Amino acid sequence: MKRVLITGASGLVGSHLMRQAAGRLDTLGAFQSFEPRGLPGRFVRVDLTDPTAAAGLAASFRPDVIIHCAAMADSDRCQAEPALARRLNVDTTRILARRAQQAGAKLVFLSTDIIFDGRKGAPYVEEDAPNPLSFYAETKVEAENVVRGECERSVIVRTSLIYGPSPRGDRGIDERLGIAIRAGRPLRLFADEFRAPMSAANLADAVLELAGSPHTGTYHMAGAECLSRHEIGLTITRHYGWPTDTIQATRAADAPMNPPRPTKLVLDTSKARAVLTTKLLGLREGLKAPGTGVVSGS
Ligand SMILES: NC(=O)c1ccc[n+]([C@@H]2O[C@H](COP(=O)([O-])OP(=O)(O)OC[C@H]3O[C@@H](n4cnc5c(N)ncnc54)[C@H](OP(=O)(O)O)[C@@H]3O)[C@@H](O)[C@H]2O)c1
Repeated sequence: MKRVLITGASGLVGSHLMRQAAGRLDTLGAFQSFEPRGLPGRFVRVDLTDPTAAAGLAASFRPDVIIHCAAMADSDRCQAEPALARRLNVDTTRILARRAQQAGAKLVFLSTDIIFDGRKGAPYVEEDAPNPLSFYAETKVEAENVVRGECERSVIVRTSLIYGPSPRGDRGIDERLGIAIRAGRPLRLFADEFRAPMSAANLADAVLELAGSPHTGTYHMAGAECLSRHEIGLTITRHYGWPTDTIQATRAADAPMNPPRPTKLVLDTSKARAVLTTKLLGLREGLKAPGTGVVSGS
Protein backbone atom coordinates (compact mmCIF):
# COMPACT_ATOMS: atom_id res chain seq x y z
CA MET A 1 0.00 0.00 0.00
CA LYS A 2 1.50 3.33 -1.07
CA ARG A 3 -1.17 5.74 -2.24
CA VAL A 4 -4.10 6.16 0.09
CA LEU A 5 -7.18 8.29 -0.49
CA ILE A 6 -8.86 9.22 2.79
CA THR A 7 -12.35 10.70 2.57
CA GLY A 8 -13.68 12.62 5.55
CA ALA A 9 -10.12 13.77 6.28
CA SER A 10 -11.40 16.82 8.17
CA GLY A 11 -13.43 14.60 10.49
CA LEU A 12 -12.57 12.87 13.74
CA VAL A 13 -11.40 9.54 12.30
CA GLY A 14 -10.08 10.81 8.96
CA SER A 15 -7.83 13.43 10.60
CA HIS A 16 -6.21 10.76 12.78
CA LEU A 17 -5.69 8.57 9.73
CA MET A 18 -3.90 11.49 8.03
CA ARG A 19 -1.69 11.95 11.11
CA GLN A 20 -0.83 8.28 11.60
CA ALA A 21 -0.09 7.80 7.89
CA ALA A 22 2.23 10.82 7.70
CA GLY A 23 5.74 10.01 6.50
CA ARG A 24 4.80 6.41 5.72
CA LEU A 25 2.29 6.73 2.91
CA ASP A 26 1.38 9.05 0.06
CA THR A 27 -2.00 10.29 1.29
CA LEU A 28 -4.63 12.54 -0.19
CA GLY A 29 -7.29 13.70 2.25
CA ALA A 30 -10.69 14.81 0.96
CA PHE A 31 -12.81 17.31 2.88
CA GLN A 32 -15.92 19.28 1.99
CA SER A 33 -16.47 22.40 4.08
CA PHE A 34 -13.80 22.49 6.78
CA GLU A 35 -10.20 22.81 5.59
CA PRO A 36 -8.10 21.13 8.26
CA ARG A 37 -5.10 23.18 9.38
CA GLY A 38 -1.89 21.83 10.87
CA LEU A 39 -2.38 18.28 9.66
CA PRO A 40 0.24 16.52 7.55
CA GLY A 41 -0.47 15.39 3.98
CA ARG A 42 -2.20 16.85 0.94
CA PHE A 43 -5.86 17.85 1.01
CA VAL A 44 -8.50 18.44 -1.62
CA ARG A 45 -11.93 20.02 -1.28
CA VAL A 46 -14.66 17.94 -2.92
CA ASP A 47 -18.39 17.48 -2.54
CA LEU A 48 -18.71 13.71 -2.61
CA THR A 49 -22.48 13.90 -3.14
CA ASP A 50 -21.61 15.04 -6.68
CA PRO A 51 -21.20 11.67 -8.46
CA THR A 52 -18.86 13.08 -11.11
CA ALA A 53 -16.62 14.66 -8.48
CA ALA A 54 -16.57 11.48 -6.37
CA ALA A 55 -15.65 9.26 -9.32
CA GLY A 56 -13.16 11.83 -10.64
CA LEU A 57 -11.36 12.07 -7.31
CA ALA A 58 -10.64 8.34 -7.22
CA ALA A 59 -9.76 8.22 -10.92
CA SER A 60 -7.30 11.12 -10.81
CA PHE A 61 -5.42 10.15 -7.62
CA ARG A 62 -5.25 6.42 -8.52
CA PRO A 63 -5.05 5.14 -4.92
CA ASP A 64 -4.07 1.59 -3.94
CA VAL A 65 -6.45 1.97 -1.02
CA ILE A 66 -9.48 4.16 -0.39
CA ILE A 67 -10.41 4.64 3.27
CA HIS A 68 -13.93 5.99 3.15
CA CYS A 69 -14.77 7.93 6.33
CA ALA A 70 -16.93 10.72 4.87
CA ALA A 71 -20.48 10.32 6.09
CA MET A 72 -23.44 12.07 7.58
CA ALA A 73 -22.84 10.50 10.98
CA ASP A 74 -25.25 12.61 13.03
CA SER A 75 -28.35 10.50 13.60
CA ASP A 76 -30.71 13.48 14.11
CA ARG A 77 -29.46 15.14 10.92
CA CYS A 78 -29.91 11.90 8.94
CA GLN A 79 -33.48 11.70 10.22
CA ALA A 80 -34.12 15.34 9.22
CA GLU A 81 -32.35 15.19 5.83
CA PRO A 82 -32.88 11.61 4.62
CA ALA A 83 -32.29 12.27 0.91
CA LEU A 84 -28.90 13.89 1.53
CA ALA A 85 -28.00 11.22 4.10
CA ARG A 86 -28.71 8.46 1.59
CA ARG A 87 -26.79 10.27 -1.16
CA LEU A 88 -23.65 10.59 0.94
CA ASN A 89 -23.84 7.45 3.05
CA VAL A 90 -25.02 5.03 0.36
CA ASP A 91 -24.73 6.47 -3.18
CA THR A 92 -21.24 7.93 -2.72
CA THR A 93 -20.11 4.66 -1.16
CA ARG A 94 -21.38 2.82 -4.26
CA ILE A 95 -19.39 5.12 -6.56
CA LEU A 96 -16.17 4.67 -4.56
CA ALA A 97 -16.70 0.89 -4.29
CA ARG A 98 -17.13 0.61 -8.07
CA ARG A 99 -14.07 2.78 -8.69
CA ALA A 100 -12.01 0.66 -6.31
CA GLN A 101 -13.18 -2.53 -8.01
CA GLN A 102 -12.40 -1.19 -11.51
CA ALA A 103 -8.93 -0.04 -10.43
CA GLY A 104 -8.09 -3.18 -8.42
CA ALA A 105 -7.82 -1.00 -5.30
CA LYS A 106 -8.86 -1.94 -1.79
CA LEU A 107 -11.76 -0.13 -0.14
CA VAL A 108 -11.99 0.27 3.63
CA PHE A 109 -15.44 1.43 4.73
CA LEU A 110 -16.18 2.81 8.19
CA SER A 111 -19.43 1.51 9.67
CA THR A 112 -20.96 1.51 13.10
CA ASP A 113 -22.14 -0.66 16.00
CA ILE A 114 -25.48 1.18 15.76
CA ILE A 115 -26.55 -1.19 12.95
CA PHE A 116 -27.45 -3.58 15.81
CA ASP A 117 -30.46 -3.07 18.07
CA GLY A 118 -28.59 -3.80 21.32
CA ARG A 119 -31.06 -6.47 22.42
CA LYS A 120 -28.72 -9.47 22.07
CA GLY A 121 -27.56 -9.39 25.67
CA ALA A 122 -24.05 -10.45 24.60
CA PRO A 123 -21.24 -9.01 22.45
CA TYR A 124 -22.10 -8.84 18.75
CA VAL A 125 -20.04 -10.90 16.30
CA GLU A 126 -19.58 -9.94 12.65
CA GLU A 127 -22.16 -12.52 11.45
CA ASP A 128 -25.00 -11.26 13.67
CA ALA A 129 -27.98 -9.89 11.75
CA PRO A 130 -28.26 -6.09 11.79
CA ASN A 131 -31.49 -4.52 12.99
CA PRO A 132 -31.13 -0.75 12.56
CA LEU A 133 -33.32 1.43 14.78
CA SER A 134 -32.55 4.77 13.07
CA PHE A 135 -32.33 6.07 9.53
CA TYR A 136 -28.58 6.69 10.00
CA ALA A 137 -28.12 3.03 10.90
CA GLU A 138 -30.27 1.96 7.93
CA THR A 139 -28.02 3.89 5.54
CA LYS A 140 -24.96 2.18 7.06
CA VAL A 141 -26.49 -1.29 6.62
CA GLU A 142 -27.35 -0.43 3.02
CA ALA A 143 -23.84 0.91 2.39
CA GLU A 144 -22.25 -2.21 3.88
CA ASN A 145 -24.25 -4.34 1.44
CA VAL A 146 -23.17 -2.09 -1.43
CA VAL A 147 -19.49 -2.45 -0.42
CA ARG A 148 -19.75 -6.25 -0.19
CA GLY A 149 -21.60 -6.45 -3.52
CA GLU A 150 -19.45 -4.04 -5.53
CA CYS A 151 -15.87 -4.45 -4.35
CA GLU A 152 -14.03 -7.75 -3.91
CA ARG A 153 -11.06 -6.29 -2.01
CA SER A 154 -13.05 -4.53 0.67
CA VAL A 155 -12.97 -4.22 4.43
CA ILE A 156 -15.87 -3.06 6.56
CA VAL A 157 -14.83 -1.73 9.96
CA ARG A 158 -17.66 -1.42 12.46
CA THR A 159 -16.70 0.76 15.36
CA SER A 160 -18.24 2.31 18.46
CA LEU A 161 -18.21 5.70 20.24
CA ILE A 162 -15.00 7.53 19.37
CA TYR A 163 -13.00 10.01 21.45
CA GLY A 164 -9.96 12.18 20.85
CA PRO A 165 -9.22 15.56 19.32
CA SER A 166 -10.91 16.50 16.04
CA PRO A 167 -10.10 19.39 13.67
CA ARG A 168 -13.41 21.11 14.48
CA GLY A 169 -12.89 20.56 18.21
CA ASP A 170 -16.36 19.15 18.80
CA ARG A 171 -16.53 15.64 17.37
CA GLY A 172 -14.88 13.49 20.04
CA ILE A 173 -17.04 12.51 23.01
CA ASP A 174 -14.33 13.94 25.29
CA GLU A 175 -14.40 17.21 23.36
CA ARG A 176 -18.20 17.39 23.74
CA LEU A 177 -17.98 16.74 27.45
CA GLY A 178 -15.32 19.45 27.80
CA ILE A 179 -17.49 21.95 25.92
CA ALA A 180 -20.51 21.24 28.17
CA ILE A 181 -18.42 21.40 31.35
CA ARG A 182 -16.76 24.69 30.37
CA ALA A 183 -20.22 26.12 29.64
CA GLY A 184 -21.43 24.92 33.06
CA ARG A 185 -24.22 22.93 31.39
CA PRO A 186 -25.68 20.12 33.52
CA LEU A 187 -24.85 16.72 32.04
CA ARG A 188 -27.38 13.95 32.50
CA LEU A 189 -25.66 10.75 31.39
CA PHE A 190 -27.32 7.36 31.12
CA ALA A 191 -26.23 4.79 33.67
CA ASP A 192 -28.10 2.05 31.78
CA GLU A 193 -26.69 2.62 28.26
CA PHE A 194 -23.42 0.81 27.57
CA ARG A 195 -20.68 1.32 24.97
CA ALA A 196 -17.01 0.41 24.47
CA PRO A 197 -15.43 3.71 23.41
CA MET A 198 -12.32 3.73 21.24
CA SER A 199 -9.74 6.43 20.72
CA ALA A 200 -9.54 7.85 17.20
CA ALA A 201 -5.73 7.45 17.23
CA ASN A 202 -6.01 3.78 18.21
CA LEU A 203 -8.71 3.21 15.58
CA ALA A 204 -6.58 4.91 12.90
CA ASP A 205 -3.62 2.64 13.70
CA ALA A 206 -5.80 -0.46 13.50
CA VAL A 207 -7.53 0.66 10.29
CA LEU A 208 -4.20 1.46 8.58
CA GLU A 209 -2.83 -1.92 9.61
CA LEU A 210 -5.86 -3.71 8.17
CA ALA A 211 -5.80 -1.54 5.04
CA GLY A 212 -2.20 -2.57 4.34
CA SER A 213 -2.86 -6.26 4.97
CA PRO A 214 -4.30 -8.89 2.61
CA HIS A 215 -7.35 -9.28 4.88
CA THR A 216 -10.83 -8.48 3.58
CA GLY A 217 -14.29 -8.80 5.10
CA THR A 218 -16.04 -7.32 8.12
CA TYR A 219 -14.23 -6.51 11.38
CA HIS A 220 -15.46 -5.18 14.70
CA MET A 221 -13.16 -2.61 16.32
CA ALA A 222 -14.05 -1.08 19.65
CA GLY A 223 -12.39 -0.24 22.93
CA ALA A 224 -11.48 -2.98 25.38
CA GLU A 225 -13.70 -1.62 28.19
CA CYS A 226 -17.49 -1.63 28.17
CA LEU A 227 -18.88 1.15 30.37
CA SER A 228 -22.13 3.01 30.88
CA ARG A 229 -22.39 6.51 29.38
CA HIS A 230 -22.26 7.83 32.95
CA GLU A 231 -19.05 5.88 33.71
CA ILE A 232 -17.56 7.02 30.38
CA GLY A 233 -18.32 10.65 31.26
CA LEU A 234 -16.84 10.37 34.75
CA THR A 235 -13.72 8.53 33.53
CA ILE A 236 -12.98 11.18 30.90
CA THR A 237 -13.76 14.07 33.24
CA ARG A 238 -11.53 12.72 36.00
CA HIS A 239 -8.75 11.99 33.50
CA TYR A 240 -8.66 15.66 32.47
CA GLY A 241 -9.12 16.89 36.04
CA TRP A 242 -12.36 18.67 35.17
CA PRO A 243 -15.05 19.26 37.79
CA THR A 244 -17.57 16.43 37.98
CA ASP A 245 -20.29 18.28 39.92
CA THR A 246 -22.42 19.01 36.80
CA ILE A 247 -22.60 15.29 35.90
CA GLN A 248 -25.66 13.36 36.98
CA ALA A 249 -26.64 9.75 36.34
CA THR A 250 -30.01 9.19 34.68
CA ARG A 251 -31.72 6.24 33.03
CA ALA A 252 -32.30 5.81 29.30
CA ALA A 253 -35.33 3.75 30.29
CA ASP A 254 -36.91 6.96 31.69
CA ALA A 255 -36.07 9.11 28.65
CA PRO A 256 -37.38 7.49 25.47
CA MET A 257 -35.66 8.83 22.36
CA ASN A 258 -36.74 9.27 18.79
CA PRO A 259 -35.12 7.55 16.95
CA PRO A 260 -34.47 5.04 19.74
CA ARG A 261 -30.85 4.27 20.66
CA PRO A 262 -29.68 0.75 21.43
CA THR A 263 -28.98 0.45 25.15
CA LYS A 264 -26.24 -2.17 25.28
CA LEU A 265 -23.89 -2.28 22.32
CA VAL A 266 -20.77 -4.32 22.76
CA LEU A 267 -18.84 -5.55 19.75
CA ASP A 268 -16.95 -8.82 19.96
CA THR A 269 -13.54 -7.77 18.61
CA SER A 270 -11.83 -11.18 18.67
CA LYS A 271 -11.72 -11.45 14.85
CA ALA A 272 -9.84 -8.12 14.57
CA ARG A 273 -7.60 -8.92 17.53
CA ALA A 274 -6.60 -12.22 15.90
CA VAL A 275 -5.18 -10.48 12.81
CA LEU A 276 -3.90 -7.16 14.21
CA THR A 277 -0.69 -6.36 16.01
CA THR A 278 -2.27 -3.03 17.06
CA LYS A 279 -3.75 -3.52 20.54
CA LEU A 280 -7.33 -2.28 20.97
CA LEU A 281 -7.15 -0.11 24.09
CA GLY A 282 -9.63 0.35 26.91
CA LEU A 283 -10.81 3.88 27.76
CA ARG A 284 -8.33 4.48 30.59
CA GLU A 285 -5.35 3.23 28.54
CA GLY A 286 -6.53 5.06 25.44
CA LEU A 287 -6.84 8.41 27.23
CA LYS A 288 -3.20 8.15 28.33
CA ALA A 289 -1.88 7.06 24.92
CA PRO A 290 -0.10 9.50 22.58
CA GLY A 291 -2.33 11.35 20.14
CA THR A 292 -5.37 11.36 22.38
CA GLY A 293 -5.09 13.69 25.34
CA VAL A 294 -4.92 17.14 23.87
CA VAL A 295 -8.35 18.36 24.89
CA SER A 296 -8.06 21.60 26.83
CA GLY A 297 -9.41 21.67 30.37
CA SER A 298 -12.24 23.53 32.01
N1 LIG B 1 -17.64 9.37 15.60
C1 LIG B 1 -18.13 8.23 16.05
O1 LIG B 1 -18.34 8.09 17.28
C2 LIG B 1 -18.40 7.08 15.09
C3 LIG B 1 -18.86 5.88 15.63
C4 LIG B 1 -19.08 4.80 14.77
C5 LIG B 1 -18.86 4.94 13.41
N2 LIG B 1 -18.43 6.13 12.90
C6 LIG B 1 -18.22 6.22 11.43
O2 LIG B 1 -16.87 6.57 11.21
C7 LIG B 1 -16.77 7.40 10.05
C8 LIG B 1 -16.03 8.67 10.41
O3 LIG B 1 -16.77 9.33 11.43
P1 LIG B 1 -16.28 10.72 12.04
O4 LIG B 1 -16.79 10.79 13.42
O5 LIG B 1 -14.83 10.91 11.76
O6 LIG B 1 -17.13 11.74 11.15
P2 LIG B 1 -17.13 13.34 11.23
O7 LIG B 1 -16.14 13.82 12.24
O8 LIG B 1 -18.56 13.76 11.35
O9 LIG B 1 -16.60 13.75 9.78
C9 LIG B 1 -17.39 13.58 8.66
C10 LIG B 1 -16.52 13.85 7.46
O10 LIG B 1 -17.31 13.71 6.28
C11 LIG B 1 -17.05 14.82 5.44
N3 LIG B 1 -18.18 15.10 4.58
C12 LIG B 1 -19.46 15.33 4.97
N4 LIG B 1 -20.22 15.61 3.87
C13 LIG B 1 -19.38 15.53 2.79
C14 LIG B 1 -19.55 15.72 1.39
N5 LIG B 1 -20.76 16.00 0.86
N6 LIG B 1 -18.47 15.58 0.60
C15 LIG B 1 -17.25 15.29 1.11
N7 LIG B 1 -17.02 15.10 2.41
C16 LIG B 1 -18.08 15.22 3.25
C17 LIG B 1 -16.81 15.97 6.40
O11 LIG B 1 -16.14 17.02 5.71
P3 LIG B 1 -16.27 18.58 6.18
O12 LIG B 1 -16.26 18.57 7.68
O13 LIG B 1 -15.03 19.20 5.57
O14 LIG B 1 -17.53 19.13 5.62
C18 LIG B 1 -15.96 15.29 7.45
O15 LIG B 1 -14.61 15.23 7.02
C19 LIG B 1 -18.20 7.64 9.57
O16 LIG B 1 -18.47 6.75 8.52
C20 LIG B 1 -19.06 7.31 10.79
O17 LIG B 1 -20.31 6.84 10.38
C21 LIG B 1 -18.18 7.20 13.71
